Amino acid sequence: MSRPSPHLLRIVQVSDCHVARDPQTAYRGQNADRNLSSLLPAIRRWQPDLLLLTGDVSEDASAAAYGRVAALLSTAGAPVLALPGNHDDPALMRRYFPLGPWAGPHVHAGRNWQLILLDSTEPGCIPGVFSSSDLEHLERCLAKGADRNTLLALHHQPVAVDSLWIDRYALERPEEFWAVVDRHPQVRCVTWGHVHQDFSAGRGEVTLLGSPSSVANSLPGREAFTLDLGGPACRWLELNAAGTLATGLLRAT
Ligand SMILES: [Fe+2]
Repeated sequence: MSRPSPHLLRIVQVSDCHVARDPQTAYRGQNADRNLSSLLPAIRRWQPDLLLLTGDVSEDASAAAYGRVAALLSTAGAPVLALPGNHDDPALMRRYFPLGPWAGPHVHAGRNWQLILLDSTEPGCIPGVFSSSDLEHLERCLAKGADRNTLLALHHQPVAVDSLWIDRYALERPEEFWAVVDRHPQVRCVTWGHVHQDFSAGRGEVTLLGSPSSVANSLPGREAFTLDLGGPACRWLELNAAGTLATGLLRAT
């Protein structure tokens, strides 16, 4: 297969791997290691420039899990940008995934875009939380990169996805986050994990995306988690230097 256009920034978003210390531990009846591995041939074939890992990498915040996920993803041939979810231990996770929002937002710039990775986790808390200092940090990043098309990535959904089981644990006080975003028209896309389903919507000019899980997904619009027999998935994103984007899902083949 020929190399994709050098004018596009090609990203695969992998989310909610929920890998445990013991690789035999089941997650919602599925094997997390095996399901993540099953996506890798499709990811390699797609030839991403970057992998974006959007949290709940480990179910039990164990070093063994982070080590195995890092080893598996290293076979995809692209650097990994990572951010934590509510199941993760950010201090431990950063040892395995050094490129991330470990001391404030992580900015990756390339091809007329910037990706800003945010940590929406709060220790001991399942929903997402941004403190006022987190939001000030974000505001400064956006003011600095005003001339670049921008994608924001976080773990928790900043809008309801209409699935009660997970909307209980969304980003708290999302209006404070949106107030910052709305002041910066270069933001083209906000993408997250946490919801274990494919989600897309628009908010003015901003594309909103929820990414499926690499282990187990739920059918959309359910009150309780209801296993989607379509299996694990991850999201591809193709960012054009003009500021437009295309996206879709990759599944095991
Ligand atoms: Fe989560």
